[in-house]
Amino acid sequence: MNLLLIGFGAVGQGFAEILHEKSARLQERGFAPRIIGVITATRGGLYRRDGLDIPALLAAAAAGSFAKYPQQAGLRRDVSAQGMIADGAADALLELSPTNLETAQPALDSCLAALEGGLHLVLANKGPVALAYPQLQRAAQARGRQLRFEATVMAGTPVLSLAQEALAGCAIVSARGILNGTTNYMLTRMEAGMSYEEALAQAQALGYAEADPAGDVEGWDAAGKALILAQALFGAPLRLTDLAVSGITQISAADIAEAKARGERIKLIAELSAAGGEVRARRLPISDPLAGVSGASNALTLETDLLGAVTIVGAGAGGRETGTALLNDLLAIARAENR
Ligand SMILES: NC(=O)c1ccc[n+]([C@@H]2O[C@H](COP(=O)([O-])OP(=O)(O)OC[C@H]3O[C@@H](n4cnc5c(N)ncnc54)[C@H](OP(=O)(O)O)[C@@H]3O)[C@@H](O)[C@H]2O)c1
Repeated sequence: MNLLLIGFGAVGQGFAEILHEKSARLQERGFAPRIIGVITATRGGLYRRDGLDIPALLAAAAAGSFAKYPQQAGLRRDVSAQGMIADGAADALLELSPTNLETAQPALDSCLAALEGGLHLVLANKGPVALAYPQLQRAAQARGRQLRFEATVMAGTPVLSLAQEALAGCAIVSARGILNGTTNYMLTRMEAGMSYEEALAQAQALGYAEADPAGDVEGWDAAGKALILAQALFGAPLRLTDLAVSGITQISAADIAEAKARGERIKLIAELSAAGGEVRARRLPISDPLAGVSGASNALTLETDLLGAVTIVGAGAGGRETGTALLNDLLAIARAENR
């Protein structure tokens, strides 16, 4: 399976490392994915129909420019994403560029071009799925291609395949989750005695929070993931304006201490059902499985008709953790193609 990657930051590099480390095991299973094209914003692009050398690709990315990638027969350094798609050698596009929750661009155009060009599409980028899922799904169905996006919610923790595949015989009535690791980390530190400002500074020092943390602390990152879950679990094409969204900026150390004294914890919870959803800080009894989720972990509780509540807890971020979801999506595509 020949792959094109748009974006080669933490996730792209984490995915490439995993692919390289697991290549022998994957080949034993009859699966031999190759990265044949990579595009970035500032490091340049590389395209080679016979495949790129992953250690050399990682070394060039670490050195800051694909100009450092060694010359190889058939290598091109000047091909656009559209040009790579049009060349016809790729089987799947992995969209790993930054999330834009306002327009989903420029990723959305590349995603549509890939599907229309007959490629499968796998995303870590939340924007196109959160804002344009129906359009993408129509384009995928029209060409008989697959659209997969496990990486967009809770990184490699398999929430979408749990809901859509492992629990396919159940109806999912509602879902509640901790979908943002930065804010969960901050709330955990605040419970240990830090102020909001100290907890934010520590989250930034550890690389959990961006220099501009608004997307996390105001609830928008969790809201983007909630839109994706609404679509995947309930077929509900909600927009950001359909969700009531607030974050943790108004939570003080005193609120947390008061909750603790009552045997409760404050968590930033995304709650969804077929009727709609919201993202807001809530007090949970300590007995709630979500109350026990600490640090940068994420969790989702699915309320089902046949099994009752099923909770999954795991990593919500990280280059390799998110790369794991991309690999699992590609394996699912390969399984479906071999059926
Ligand atoms: N990191 C995580 O834990 C995580 C988890 C789940 C989902 N995601 C999502 O996965 C995506 C990638 O995340 P990341 O952490 O890898 O981000 P990142 O480290 O900032 O890397 C982004 C990559 O996209 C490239 N890029 C930026 N604009 C581009 C454009 N217009 N065309 C082509 N490439 C472009 C960048 O180029 P340069 O190399 O030149 O800067 C970089 O290679 C994001 O949408 C993010 O929300 C991330």
